[in-house]
Amino acid sequence: MLTVKQKIAARLEDALAAMCSEGAPSAGEIAAMLEYPPDPTLGDLALPCFKFSRALRRAPAAIAAALIPAIEAEEAVGSVQAVGGYLNITVSDRYLAETLLPRILSEGKDYGKSDMGAGKTVVLDYSSPNVAKPFHIGHLGTTVIGHSLKRLHEFAGYHCVGINYLGDWGTQFGKLIVAYRRWGNAKEIDEGGVDKLVELYVRFHKEAEENKALEEEARVEFHKLESGDAENLSLWRKFIDISLAEYEKTYRQLGITFDSYKGESFYTDKMPAEVQKLRDKGLLKIDDGASIVDLAPYGMPPCLILKRDGSTLYPTRDIAAAVYRQATYHFDKAIYVTSAGQSLHFAQWFKVVELMGYDWYDKLVHVPYGTVSINGAKLATRTGNVILLRDLFGAAIEEVKKIMEEKNPDLADKEKVAEAVGVGAIVFYYLSNNRNKDINFVMEDALNFDGNTGPYVQYTYARTASLLARAGEMRADQIVLTAPEESALLKVLSLFPEKVLSAIAEYEPSVITRYILDVAAAYNRFYHNCPVLSAENADVRAARVALTRATNIVLGNAFPLICMKAMEKI
Ligand code: ARG
Repeated sequence: MLTVKQKIAARLEDALAAMCSEGAPSAGEIAAMLEYPPDPTLGDLALPCFKFSRALRRAPAAIAAALIPAIEAEEAVGSVQAVGGYLNITVSDRYLAETLLPRILSEGKDYGKSDMGAGKTVVLDYSSPNVAKPFHIGHLGTTVIGHSLKRLHEFAGYHCVGINYLGDWGTQFGKLIVAYRRWGNAKEIDEGGVDKLVELYVRFHKEAEENKALEEEARVEFHKLESGDAENLSLWRKFIDISLAEYEKTYRQLGITFDSYKGESFYTDKMPAEVQKLRDKGLLKIDDGASIVDLAPYGMPPCLILKRDGSTLYPTRDIAAAVYRQATYHFDKAIYVTSAGQSLHFAQWFKVVELMGYDWYDKLVHVPYGTVSINGAKLATRTGNVILLRDLFGAAIEEVKKIMEEKNPDLADKEKVAEAVGVGAIVFYYLSNNRNKDINFVMEDALNFDGNTGPYVQYTYARTASLLARAGEMRADQIVLTAPEESALLKVLSLFPEKVLSAIAEYEPSVITRYILDVAAAYNRFYHNCPVLSAENADVRAARVALTRATNIVLGNAFPLICMKAMEKI
């Protein structure tokens, strides 16, 4: 079913085509031109008609006047006015009540979904921590932006493959093996988990400052691992299993699962073929013993393929992995979510894939995000100067427990609710900003139940759930709207499908986060001004219960799109 915007755009398409001999804009182009006026008294949608003056050789005001009848004929339109070259359009209350609201109620869990991606596959590479190094707040972005983008694409009908490209290979394993043999033992790492591994890794670097021979020892051990030494391989496996068990706790808190854990190690035997291909195509140049692809013509530094000793590099592996993923999943889009610090790396190897002649090079998408720093949160930093994701979530959960003890000490399932609200607070705060912005994290702000926060929107959802539980059987026929807050709320609810599409188009989960705030604000304004259960008569009551149900549906559908859980009670 079409959104209000699409319906109006379709009418305008016909009207403009009739006025234009050629080059009339498509409905899609018109939809993109329709604006939401910042001041709602000007209407719900506005069309700037000067955009058509050249094609139509007419003044904007004349075009606006000529388009009025076509717009008036649209059932979703209440009124339309031409003002200064703009058409200001107001959505009809009747349409909202009689068509939109029943539609939200009947679509329920499917409201907001589309089939835009039907038959298409999207591969998403995200989270991807480096085993045996800390899983820290720098990974928050890739983890939650990546998973949100997966959820959003699924919601739009794409088949999605979420890949955790674990950093499970490299010289750090030689170091860890040396450290483990010298200072660790099985019992300690079984009990101490990832913390113990990180501790060993940190100790290696400390001791190696004094004892240079350690580095060489680590190289030898990594080489043995690469050559398939059974003992080193089993240690390596164990380090990965321990790390994964730890990451999975965090993923579980966020409701994240992956479809594939094929990490860097998986691609080791897939790189030689790509290196050969580069060589065959004459793309490799030897530079000071290393093999590179010259990217000067494209304004970039060279892409490093092989070191002097012939060992492969980060881009080499990414190229081999992309080739494998295209062959395996035939993706229509491959999305990589990493910090903006890696933007050059992606631009370089994307270019190399193009130069290699792979025709799917333009399906590779890098989605960068800004840095995160932390202020005001008293967090234990076990490993010196990094803050672990686990500790950040843990601190938020503890704070929420304290607040809940004060506000609602009798709540059932306290642990579960505190976890959802604490973790949700962090995620919501993080995803409130455009992803490219650098963020300074202030825990008190994230947890403020009265601010524009995760707890506030989760509380709003719980408010709708508790009202619905008390409302009993719901009638949704003969809806009449009697207050401006009701139609304002419905207008916000009507926007959900297009917000999903713009979040996808911009690779920007914050579109959903901000939209959730709009829904919560509109619902709370409605709730405070329009008595629901004590409404003046049965019809008004029924309409308001239905509006509450629709809000519950939209929030319930939107939360998972940004990795947040909806709690019935807080
Ligand atoms: N493991 C890398 C890191 O922690 C991120 C990997 C991103 N994905 C990729 N295909 N390069 O920095």
